[in-house]
Amino acid sequence: MKILEIEGGKTLSGTIRISGAKNSAVALIPAAILSDEEVTICNVPEITDTEALCEILKYLGADIKRASESIVIQSSKIENKEIPASLSKKLRASYYFMGALLGKYGRVKMRFPGGCSIGARPINLHLKGFEALGATITEKGNCYVVEAEELKGANIYLDFASVGATINIMLAAVKAKGTTIIDNAAKEPEIVNVATLLNNMGAKITGAGTSTIKIHGVSSLGSCFHEVIPDRIEAGTYIILGACCGNQLKIDNLIPEHVEALTSKLKEAGVPLKIGVDSITVSKKESTKAIQVRTQTYPGFPTDLQQPLSVFLTQCEGKSKIEETIYENRFMHIPYLNQLGADIRVKNQTATIIGPTQLTGGNVVATDLRAGAALVIAALIAEGHTKITNVEHILRGYEQIVEKLTNVGANIKEREI
Ligand code: EPU
Repeated sequence: MKILEIEGGKTLSGTIRISGAKNSAVALIPAAILSDEEVTICNVPEITDTEALCEILKYLGADIKRASESIVIQSSKIENKEIPASLSKKLRASYYFMGALLGKYGRVKMRFPGGCSIGARPINLHLKGFEALGATITEKGNCYVVEAEELKGANIYLDFASVGATINIMLAAVKAKGTTIIDNAAKEPEIVNVATLLNNMGAKITGAGTSTIKIHGVSSLGSCFHEVIPDRIEAGTYIILGACCGNQLKIDNLIPEHVEALTSKLKEAGVPLKIGVDSITVSKKESTKAIQVRTQTYPGFPTDLQQPLSVFLTQCEGKSKIEETIYENRFMHIPYLNQLGADIRVKNQTATIIGPTQLTGGNVVATDLRAGAALVIAALIAEGHTKITNVEHILRGYEQIVEKLTNVGANIKEREI
């Protein structure tokens, strides 16, 4: 097991460079198998989630070359076989192989995916989409067989603008006969990034980034070179860190528009931000004021930044509130923040945070990826020593977190115990 040891109370300054987006990369890698030719994806973060997807690709028989931040995937000889649970359970995004294998072969057999335990996370909307395209679904003890004699374009309305369902349906529909229209599609930048990869491969997708996506089926997909967008959640996490303990901390290589829901809230709290073309520089201000936040789908405030933001709110004056509307169980970090000295109460889906409070180091557990990121921020502003266990969750999504933080003056060490 890996642990992080953090000595808090340091002011952080310098530059943190943002990596490629986890939630894009984890869809782009499975999407690449739809092509029989070579697909090069660059700016792929080296995190355990992308490693796990490459393991699945290798298992299926793809040829993969990894050179620093690029992955070259050649899938012409892959075999459409069941992905063992030991591989698919490592991450939620393994479910993108459902859409990709179904789109490529018209059949897929897979176990229910894994991922962070932050709520029920059903896949009914993905399955509804596959069915609309003409597939039949058989479920037996958590194992799904999705198959179609021929996939045919359809009009699909999503009851909720799900990121995963929108991407999975795009993957399944890209080679279907005729036109597919996804209404109430998710609008996250990662959707646009996946549609761009598919279009670069020869697909005909329009409307990605709006709530109506049109996919005109094509018979084959070819080779392409594609880049992963900067990780807006990693960027947001470090911007929040800068608001907590930064002095001119520059977060570089990001798309400011992608983090606007966060920056507008930080400005409301009184945080000084210098927003450049592809960077944001942030400093801690002595006094910041309480704010109210509600998580929403993009372009609303992202659920993935709610947990890191809660740490900043412990430093603001007054009563802040965070309402979580996407997941039922995304406040698991709160008892640990309270243990470090925060004053937070959770009722139903709302956390009420009274600040400012002085945080003091202690022993805490990263229960999921973003809970872990929140605890890293808390440990960096706390007086004294903090030990974080279950760090594997954090390493699923934050590339070189120890190196990046050390470079800006943090006292943080990773140890194996
Ligand atoms: N939902 C359904 N049925 C479905 C699909 C989703 O009810 O078939 C519900 C979910 O239970 C949840 C809500 O819809 O309550 C949102 O789910 P969505 O499908 O949008 O999320 P996801 O695709 O499972 C991705 C990210 C998450 C991020 C969400 C929301 C990946 C691999 N994961 O999850 O990222 O929170 O979108 O933006 O892209 C993270 O990075 O920490 C993370 C959890």
